[in-house]
Amino acid sequence: MKKTILITGGAGFIGSHVVRLFVNKYPDYQIVNGDALTYAGNLENLNDVQDKPNYTFEKVDITDETAINALFEKYAFSGIIHLAAESHVDRSIQDPLTFIRTNVLGTAVLLNAARKYWKDAMDGKRFYHVSTDEVYGSLGEEGFFTEETAYDPRSPYSASKASSDHFVRAYFHTYHLPVVLSNCSNNYGSHHFPEKLIPLAIHNIRNNKPIPVYGTGENVRDWLFVDDHARAIDTIFHNGVTGETYNIGGFNEWKNIDLIRLLCKIMDSKLGREPGTSAQLITFVKDRAGHDQRYAIDASKLNKALGWAPSLQFEEGLEKTVDWYLANQDWLDHVTSGAYKKYYEEQYQQR
Ligand code: NAD
Ligand code: TYD
Repeated sequence: MKKTILITGGAGFIGSHVVRLFVNKYPDYQIVNGDALTYAGNLENLNDVQDKPNYTFEKVDITDETAINALFEKYAFSGIIHLAAESHVDRSIQDPLTFIRTNVLGTAVLLNAARKYWKDAMDGKRFYHVSTDEVYGSLGEEGFFTEETAYDPRSPYSASKASSDHFVRAYFHTYHLPVVLSNCSNNYGSHHFPEKLIPLAIHNIRNNKPIPVYGTGENVRDWLFVDDHARAIDTIFHNGVTGETYNIGGFNEWKNIDLIRLLCKIMDSKLGREPGTSAQLITFVKDRAGHDQRYAIDASKLNKALGWAPSLQFEEGLEKTVDWYLANQDWLDHVTSGAYKKYYEEQYQQR
């Protein structure tokens, strides 16, 4: 079936993997990447698909109602996969309002446009909202987040994502907008902006700079390879039940410090360093304010209902990720110049 799909945030980390998957897998679909190209958006992420006939880029800010309405007029979208967001917890602590604007207002603008343009023809339409496990709050040693876990966001980032999830469900219940949602755990892989833990550590190890580990490094995250997230989004977009939420996770929990030690080991071997060399760069720094202790996703609903499962073991995925960064030093150099340097200095100078 011919579909025109708007993917928001397609120039970002996860969005670029979703755009690549859809453009290559569905030559009959017209894929429109709508992205404002903030510091996190980078069209270099999509060099390999930019000339495909079923791909178009539109520079658009999702908080700009006039521009979003014009985009709906121009393309008559049948589907939306909404990933555009401010996504970094530390930045949300520095500047919460930007997160409220993009993540809450931006999502509401998109919902409203979909409601307006699909009003008399909801059949065959789909509004897919991509969210995070961080909306569920923080776990102790035991237990997992399920789709029934009560929301308990604790950072400005997770609070803004939780709010956007509520608006998506409100549009389903109030206006019967055909929505579907997913909440995913921490992603890793290629094209990940080096303000997040794994790409930041790879970048610093390569350049013999300190690896900043917050607090004592005991916080736990559940890591999923980004291509597996993109595959889950494809599955849920096509087969998920309207109005439902699916948790996506890697069944792969790591303490930050153990993850960093594994990464150092892989980097030593890839860079031909003596075992133990990179680990000497580990530096414990001041903890993040309100740092969530543990995230762990129960992704069994998605597995049972739609047959999705992660495809890679963590060590294998991490090695692939390191290989990509070492082979794409230009990409890292481009994204770590200018504004990134200023952010890095401000973020880590007081730690
Ligand atoms: P990212 O920060 O790498 O990319 C975000 C993209 O959105 C960028 O291309 C940016 O230019 C664009 N954008 C930001 N503000 C915009 C605006 N106002 N209008 C239009 N475009 C705008 O983020 P990511 O890590 O790829 O995350 C994508 C989505 O997945 C987010 O909604 C995030 O909450 C969710 N998510 C991320 C993770 C993760 O581990 N990274 C895990 C679960 C869910
Ligand atoms: P991050 O990649 O920012 O993802 P999130 O906060 O959304 O989970 O951080 C992952 C974990 O790593 C988190 O517990 C915070 C920690 N962390 C550090 O220890 N040092 C760092 O420099 C960064 C960016 C994160």
